Amino acid sequence: MKKLLIVYDSEYNATQHVALILKDLFMKNNAFAVDLSPVELSNISGYDYVIIGSPIHFGKCTSKINHFLKCNKHILAQKTVALFLTCMSVKPTPNDTNIPVYIDPGFNTPEKPLKMMSFVEKTHASANYINHVFKYCKRVPFINIAIFKGNLKINKMKLVHQFLMFFAMRLLPDIKEGNFINSKSIHDWAKQLTAYYKKSI
Ligand SMILES: Cc1cc2nc3c(=O)[nH]c(=O)nc-3n(C[C@H](O)[C@H](O)[C@H](O)COP(=O)(O)O)c2cc1C
Repeated sequence: MKKLLIVYDSEYNATQHVALILKDLFMKNNAFAVDLSPVELSNISGYDYVIIGSPIHFGKCTSKINHFLKCNKHILAQKTVALFLTCMSVKPTPNDTNIPVYIDPGFNTPEKPLKMMSFVEKTHASANYINHVFKYCKRVPFINIAIFKGNLKINKMKLVHQFLMFFAMRLLPDIKEGNFINSKSIHDWAKQLTAYYKKSI
């Protein structure tokens, strides 16, 4: 039986929640053995498929995920790897990679070329989120990248994060408090991955 590992980082549990939904979906599938691991405890050797999940912090994956990508880029390049990001705002750009990119319909933001975006919009452009990942693991052939809407509960955050989010919400009015995790979007993405895994068996 093929083995799938879901590796994630999560500061306020949204990314962990998405990872858990994915785990349940793939376990129901019965086609794979599925494990879930926080990034700091993860060991990817022995797995056929790896799914990596990170929240977006200041337009990038978390430092733990970036470190993981950098340290494991050679071994990841030999596996079937997918990535998902959770964030509160994304400005979709035309996809200029050959990797399918799934953007959660919950963002409900039309696509716009990067060069037509304001400075603030660019910091949340899908192309910039994704290109930043490639800085750490250029040769990893991701089979699919998803950007899911996460959740934001200001009063549960560290004071410094509350302060930063307060400013972010003024710069980008689409950033709103609440839980926007949508199981249907996660389900749709998992279906795309399953179709790919089945083809590759
Ligand atoms: C320090 C910090 C920086 C963030 N930066 C961004 C950002 O640049 N863009 C964005 O859309 N969301 C940003 N967010 C919101 C998170 O990406 C979002 O709430 C995510 O779902 C949190 O995932 P977690 O609960 O797994 O940590 C930021 C949150 C924090 C705490």
